[in-house]
Amino acid sequence: MEQQDILKERAARRAVELVPDGADIGLGSGSTAEIALRLLGEQVRGGLRLRGVPTSERTASLAQGLGIPLTTLEEASELALTLDGADEVDPDLNLIKGLGGALTREKIVAKASKQAVILVDESKLVRVLGTTTPVPVEVLPFGWTRAAAELAGMGLSPERRTTPSGEPYITDNGNYILHLATGPIADVPSLDTRIRAVAGVVETGLFHGIAHLVLVGAQDGVRELRG
Ligand code: A5P
Repeated sequence: MEQQDILKERAARRAVELVPDGADIGLGSGSTAEIALRLLGEQVRGGLRLRGVPTSERTASLAQGLGIPLTTLEEASELALTLDGADEVDPDLNLIKGLGGALTREKIVAKASKQAVILVDESKLVRVLGTTTPVPVEVLPFGWTRAAAELAGMGLSPERRTTPSGEPYITDNGNYILHLATGPIADVPSLDTRIRAVAGVVETGLFHGIAHLVLVGAQDGVRELRG
């Protein structure tokens, strides 16, 4: 196993210990969340009772394969917690999420959770968001070039995400993703508000005031950062 995967697994192991028996929980997307999913599958086979709301079609199908019962936000409107990854985490527990393309469902599920628990390896920690990754933004295909032009006018250099074969990437909601080159973000809530004001923007990958606990898989163990 690669070193980064060992650190991700460390964080994921600590995270699954937080899942109470009988809980409804959010199931995140991405490679770190998938490690937690696999560990949860083992727990379920060992007798843990839970129902999960998946944040992507991929997570739904992986969970089904692992024998994890699924539910929806219609059935379970408040979740005990959600376990998910992140692309960047700042010292105030603001996040960039969505390089896996599932940001809209991830944000809805995180906000429906009493505790949003984020699992990362230490490479995801930054002093300022926007340092290492673009900000993914989900947009409607209808008129997306207009939305992109407006975002370009804000100096955000949008690029439509493509698949490895060069086709437009389509989210589980049937939309496009634009990657914004923000550079270091001085004011996360303000930038989020400005982006969301663009017609056609569905959701942004800026998560501020959402994470309650960040579990950081590090060389010396698991660090816990609390909001
Ligand atoms: C999925 O849409 C994302 O928000 C992921 O949670 C994020 O990209 C982190 O993914 P990894 O755990 O694969 O780094």
